Amino acid sequence: MINIAVLGYGTIGSGVVEVLDTNSESIANRAGDEIQVKYVLDLRDFPGESIQDKIVHDYEVIVNDPDIQVVVEVMGGVEPAYTFVKRALLAGKHVTTSNKALVAKHGAELIAIAKEHSINFLFEASVGGGIPIIRPLNSSLTADEIQEITGILNGTTNYMMSKMTNEGLEFDEVLKDAQEKGYAEKDPTADIKGHDACRKIAILTSLVCGQQVDYEDIYTEGIDKITATDIKYAKAMGRAIKLLASSKRVDESFYAMVAPFMISQDHPLFSVNDVFNGIFVRGNVLGDAMFYGSGAGKLPTASAVVADIVDIVKHLKTNILVEWSKKKLNLVDMKASKR
Ligand code: HSE
Repeated sequence: MINIAVLGYGTIGSGVVEVLDTNSESIANRAGDEIQVKYVLDLRDFPGESIQDKIVHDYEVIVNDPDIQVVVEVMGGVEPAYTFVKRALLAGKHVTTSNKALVAKHGAELIAIAKEHSINFLFEASVGGGIPIIRPLNSSLTADEIQEITGILNGTTNYMMSKMTNEGLEFDEVLKDAQEKGYAEKDPTADIKGHDACRKIAILTSLVCGQQVDYEDIYTEGIDKITATDIKYAKAMGRAIKLLASSKRVDESFYAMVAPFMISQDHPLFSVNDVFNGIFVRGNVLGDAMFYGSGAGKLPTASAVVADIVDIVKHLKTNILVEWSKKKLNLVDMKASKR
């Protein structure tokens, strides 16, 4: 029996508990052991709900319990997530996280700590929600020199652009709808100004080149200035406006940026609509590949988190992530966009 602790019982945390419960048998078969949620850390109580027995309010209970082998960080935000994750790793506990802000800022350091302790720090859910992209870049695509990654990496803004296109609605109306559906971040600024997509493309670029990319160096423009009229013009030209996050190899360096683009029907990302994400990858040997699926939401994201847990349980004694050095990668031709 493997005991785990889930940090945060929000949308993703409750999804993780639900997936572990719903598919408990097949997950135990694949992992080779039963997985039990021993603690859920949350500031709130959930009286009357079965989860209440597991709720703790003090992280010390988790980090000091030698029975806890895996910590699942799904709180979001850099702090206190960073402190909790670092302490868990230093205590020899494996960690999986869905937190792109944490990985984009501290990924190199956390990967190095995990490596040093022969444990794992995995983050499949931090980019593309339920779409496998971190694992492929770390394993299936390692024969290639990756030339380009261009993705629709933010489900909220893609949903908004699609709804504006299909229904001719204004920006504020579709933002409200995206928030009601639970797609947008608590503070939607990160979605609509492109910061969420920027952190995700920084993570993917770091994986491809093995060096930390500073997301603050990535030129980033959001969709907040797109109007119903812009969409109407794009439509009239048979095109669609999409928020693209792109990273391209230029000699030995990378050019990365996030911005709304008007794309034509023959573009591989043209048909990626609603809350879906699409990630186009070009390798020098593979050629072109597309990854497509649910980029946000409770169960798709939980699916990726639980897959990390299963992988961890299968590799309790070895570190399975390719190294990612703290040395900063120089991005070329960047207009620094400080946030
Ligand atoms: N707000 C994010 C999105 C959630 O819309 O893609 C998943 O990272």
